[in-house]
Amino acid sequence: MNLFDVLLNSGVTEGPSDFLIFLGRIHPLVVHLPIGFLLLAALIELVAKKPKFRPLKTYTHYVWALGSLSAFFAVLFGYFLSLSGDYNEDTLFWHKWMGVAVFLFSLVCYLVSKKQWKLPFYGKSILISLVVFTIFYTGHLGGNLTHGSTYLLEHAPNVVRNLAGMPDKAIPREKVTVLDSADVYLDLISPILDRRCVSCHNDDKKKGDLDLTSYANLALGGENGEVVVPGDLNTSDIYRRITLPETHDDFMPTEGKPPLSDDEVAIIGWWIEKNVPPAGYFVEMGPDDKIKIIVEKYLGLDKNNLLNQKVEAPNKAIVDSLVNHGFILNPLMMDNHFMDANFSLSEQELNDQALTTLLVLKDQIIWLNMSNSGIKNAQLEHIGQLENLIKLNLSTNVISDEGLMHLSQLQNLESINLYKTDVSEGLLTLVPKLPNLKRLYLAESKVDSITVAQLRREHQNLQIVFEEKR
Ligand code: HEC
Repeated sequence: MNLFDVLLNSGVTEGPSDFLIFLGRIHPLVVHLPIGFLLLAALIELVAKKPKFRPLKTYTHYVWALGSLSAFFAVLFGYFLSLSGDYNEDTLFWHKWMGVAVFLFSLVCYLVSKKQWKLPFYGKSILISLVVFTIFYTGHLGGNLTHGSTYLLEHAPNVVRNLAGMPDKAIPREKVTVLDSADVYLDLISPILDRRCVSCHNDDKKKGDLDLTSYANLALGGENGEVVVPGDLNTSDIYRRITLPETHDDFMPTEGKPPLSDDEVAIIGWWIEKNVPPAGYFVEMGPDDKIKIIVEKYLGLDKNNLLNQKVEAPNKAIVDSLVNHGFILNPLMMDNHFMDANFSLSEQELNDQALTTLLVLKDQIIWLNMSNSGIKNAQLEHIGQLENLIKLNLSTNVISDEGLMHLSQLQNLESINLYKTDVSEGLLTLVPKLPNLKRLYLAESKVDSITVAQLRREHQNLQIVFEEKR
């Protein structure tokens, strides 16, 4: 064992120490210094040929010195980083030695510049060109190491891609619009892996020696062999890892990346149980109703989900009229016409006519803010007809249980704000009628803690914001 190894491992042959990894992770920061200094030095060398810039010549060697010194540290920290990582070995090899070349070339440039050596032929220009070329090439390889070799040209025009020997851009798969056309791998499994796993399991960054970019690569398995065993959830390592407790060392995805949703886990589990088919129509594989519902939801084909329905553009005259009544209206989506209506900032009085006009947009309005609007119990009858409402804010109004009765048809409602209102036990009748309710704001209302306790008991998934009066 040489001295360097001793320093790195402090005598223990396990991995590099935490401190070295810490320094290693500064590498991506430090590498930008030599790039800046050395390109500046090359530029100065170029322009200093002009009489106007000749005085700069006195300083050139300082810039080369800064450049080669920072290149030295970039190489050193980069070496530390390489100790920790599973990087593509080929790319790493060239990146490392090109980095060393940048340092050596720039050191020579410094000496030449400092000692004012005269190099034969175009020696100096060649040397400077080498520095510039190696900087760009090293940087490019470094980019490939972190982002994968397809990153740079992923969105490049096909002409540019073909020049670099890459195929045309893959035409993205069309969004599935009917369940019958969904392919089990291309539309269900592959999008999950692409979104959640491929950033660490691809050709360049093959953590655990596993590549999840295609069915063929997945079938090759990882360093411990097969990761999916047809028909057997218990021995399929992929399934084991995505269903472990999140805190477990083997849990996937790692590094605190968000875990798969229950539906995604269910889809992968179902696929393994169906013997991991590489292709084929989902509906022809005998899915039961349970998985069908999950897949429909996953593909956004779930007709019961309001947000998957297309609504028409709102009538312009109606929108103008509402704005004149004091409403602020905003679209909520790029490709659909759902809207947010807000009266809480209005300086006008709320009247019945405004509310009747609002009803014309009952398909479009899914968020409504009537906070501090002076709305009365009787007027809630209008609000109760806005059946697409998902979020309703009625805070700071003189309304009570009598008004709440009108809201029982709001089957899409997920959130209702009754802060600073006079509502009380009436909630015990209303809440059971709202199947999608997830959040209920009750601070400073007339509700007592006994009622809130009962609501909490009967609706475990309902989040209630309520503060006990002291
Ligand atoms: C942030 C990076 C990262 C992400 C994202 C990630 N993994 Fe991993 N994966 C790793 C690392 C690192 C290892 C090797 C260490 C280990 O075996 O735990 C690994 C190993 C594995 C292995 C074991 C391979 C073998 O044969 O040893 C499987 C299976 C796996 N990952 C599946 C997945 C799946 C499925 C996903 C997506 C849900 C995923 N990973 C997402 C980093 C990641």
